[in-house]
Amino acid sequence: MKLAGKHIVLGLSGGIACYKAAELARGLVKAGASVQVVMTEAARHFITPVTMQALSGRPVFTDQWDSRISNNMAHIDLTREADAVLIAPCSADVMRKLVHGAADDLLSTLCLARPASLPLLVAPAMNVEMWENPATQRNAAQLRADGVTLLGPVAGEQACGETGLGRMMEPEALLDELDAFFHPKILQGRLLLITAGPTFEPIDPVRGITNLSSGKMGYAIARAARMAGADVTLVSGPTALPPPTGVRLLPVTTARQMHEAVMANVAGQQVFVAVAAVADWRVAEVSSRKIKKQDGATPSLAFEQNPDILAAVAALPSAPYCVGFAAESEDLLEHGAAKRRKKNIPLLVGNIGHQTFGRDDNELVLFDDTGHHLLPRASKEALADRLVAEIATRLAH
Ligand code: C5P
Repeated sequence: MKLAGKHIVLGLSGGIACYKAAELARGLVKAGASVQVVMTEAARHFITPVTMQALSGRPVFTDQWDSRISNNMAHIDLTREADAVLIAPCSADVMRKLVHGAADDLLSTLCLARPASLPLLVAPAMNVEMWENPATQRNAAQLRADGVTLLGPVAGEQACGETGLGRMMEPEALLDELDAFFHPKILQGRLLLITAGPTFEPIDPVRGITNLSSGKMGYAIARAARMAGADVTLVSGPTALPPPTGVRLLPVTTARQMHEAVMANVAGQQVFVAVAAVADWRVAEVSSRKIKKQDGATPSLAFEQNPDILAAVAALPSAPYCVGFAAESEDLLEHGAAKRRKKNIPLLVGNIGHQTFGRDDNELVLFDDTGHHLLPRASKEALADRLVAEIATRLAH
């Protein structure tokens, strides 16, 4: 998370999506940011300053004549320590004001008076017809031309009962976008394909063989790569995780489906990261009916080898930069180095299987042609950032 330590001015304007701003303020504080909330008169019809003060931990400003700022210049003071101004929700009217340089309330005045280098991000929220109106579209285009970052809106069911573009992005997604905004773009424009999660090999319609991989490490790497500016395609086995924002997700179940999805999407990719815990074998004959329990008898299953996806990609004539993972239960240093050579890949990431599966933290050992080095125990998110930085450095050489 690059949001830790950042100071965000969070502007709220009139719209029912103000209720989501409460969650957003909470998320920002949880991520370690400090939040100064500024509300328009209209926003106060939807949510109270008391709520926003409790969640942000700071008094809320609503009025440009607020006497709490000793020089009476709230519109100047509030932005001077800020790292970004985020208006969420941003109404059609506030968009209009930003386009025309209006300065008739605190929020519009502080946006106009902000230093030129201070980023302004807005999350529009309005009825679909309002959003699609040519006047709003002209204003959106002008804001983009003025260097303002528009986040959303997204499509869906609206509070007014209509359906279409105009919903404010969900707080989680906005946090992701803001976090991405502060990330150094060390993989800008790179195409990255990644596998994650377990695979599931059916035995019959209700049973199957899988493993304890949660997908957390792979999803964290997909997210970190996207934050770093990469165009990410994530081929994922069955997991309970929400899809990472801004990533193309291709869900699969079996190893053969994962192999197929990877091979269909590998052309043109510059990096391939194989994090998935792919089942080495599949059941040779999958029963089309549930295998019935018979007294005293146990079924015997015959297995077939699954394709090695990483090896297949590494063997391509114009293979992307390949990164493999190895989950070992013992002798990691020995097995890791040998596995990297056997798989013929430039970088292999080792971890101890039972100390990582399902957990939120991990410890990694990187093996390359210079030897190995440790990325000490940390959250999977922090390790994903470190690994993405390692990949970016290697690509640059
Ligand atoms: O040989 P092993 O299964 O330990 O290798 C692990 C690495 O190979 C991981 O990067 C995993 O994603 C990848 N792999 C694969 N296809 C397989 C088996 C493993 O891509 N069938």
